[in-house]
Amino acid sequence: MTTDLTILGLESSCDDTAAAVVQIKNGRPDILASVVEGQTALHADFGGVVPEIAARAHAEKLDGCTAAALQKAGLTLPNIDLVAVTSGPGLIGGVMSGVMFAKGLAAGSGIPLIGVNHLAGHALTPRLTDQMAYPYLMLLVSGGHCQFLLVTAQDQFQRLGGTIDDAPGEAFDKSAKLLGLAQPGGPAVEAEARTGDPKRFKLPRPLLDRDGCDMSFSGLKTALLRARDAEIASHGGLFRQTRSDLCAGFQRAVCDVLSEKLRRAVKQSLTQQKITGIAVAGGVAANRDIRSALEAVASEFDLPFVAPPLSLCTDNAAMIAYAGAEQFVAGRRDGPELIARPRWPLDQTSAPILGSGKKGAKA
Ligand code: KG4
Ligand code: ZN
Repeated sequence: MTTDLTILGLESSCDDTAAAVVQIKNGRPDILASVVEGQTALHADFGGVVPEIAARAHAEKLDGCTAAALQKAGLTLPNIDLVAVTSGPGLIGGVMSGVMFAKGLAAGSGIPLIGVNHLAGHALTPRLTDQMAYPYLMLLVSGGHCQFLLVTAQDQFQRLGGTIDDAPGEAFDKSAKLLGLAQPGGPAVEAEARTGDPKRFKLPRPLLDRDGCDMSFSGLKTALLRARDAEIASHGGLFRQTRSDLCAGFQRAVCDVLSEKLRRAVKQSLTQQKITGIAVAGGVAANRDIRSALEAVASEFDLPFVAPPLSLCTDNAAMIAYAGAEQFVAGRRDGPELIARPRWPLDQTSAPILGSGKKGAKA
């Protein structure tokens, strides 16, 4: 990208309100500020994100986050060349809060506006962090998403496969709940798994027997529930070591499924074209065992592996600013007619993925 741009990014599609300022000079992006305000405490009593509470909180926090991002960047609105806002997919109320706020800001200040697909933000993150060249293979793996994308341009995404039910992060969270561990479940299960024996419990590797790159994680969580109940029935409770062994077994199963499906996604991509590497994004990419399992697959194919820093793997507005910039430079822009799209598959040509995650549509 040759055009120099300073972009304000806004994100409010789930339970993080975020604003960021990204500057692109001589084709190199620089994150001047990235502010993320989570809402975990607001939803803690409800066992999941409550859409109405989330939407209201976004509406209340967006201006504060924006002011904080501009202040951190040492800039004011007249320095901004583009407002990029997540306009889907996600929880409709939250997306609407962001879109309305961005429209007001852009119209009031005479700044161009662009609506960005949240998943495109994740999918283009390796370009923001590592200037990864197209085409590359991307695994989005979080609490709400799980899909393999062949990314060939800033608006060209081919979905090679995805989960047909739970996303892995969702399965980690539900499994943690079943074992009495804290939320979010991913880090808790990972910590517990460190002292566990991954081979003690024979947990399934769902859909490995089926061709292609689609995945399923809800049966794995049910198998964990059954194993837990059998242990409780025969021992009258769950020993600490047993809990660790269950966590280790669960985590190993997720690693095995993601690795094998990644292998297939690479092979499928290579039948179409050469790829420059493999990238991962999403909160589950924080898991060290999963990250190294994916990295091992990349080295089997002699391909570079890019895993952005965690703050850019999880929801943030810097990725929205960057994706907006790439699409703006390619000629896209929006006006006051921009609407929130709760469902907005990145790949419009593939059949939609079934099901809906705890945080909204899987897209
Ligand atoms: O990307 P993210 O912050 O939010 C969305 O889901 O959009 O991902 C959060 C998910 C949660 O389900 C959380 O349990 C999972 O990522 N997660 C992990 C780890 N850290 C976060 N899963 C496995 N291992 C981890 N270390
Ligand atoms: Zn996300």
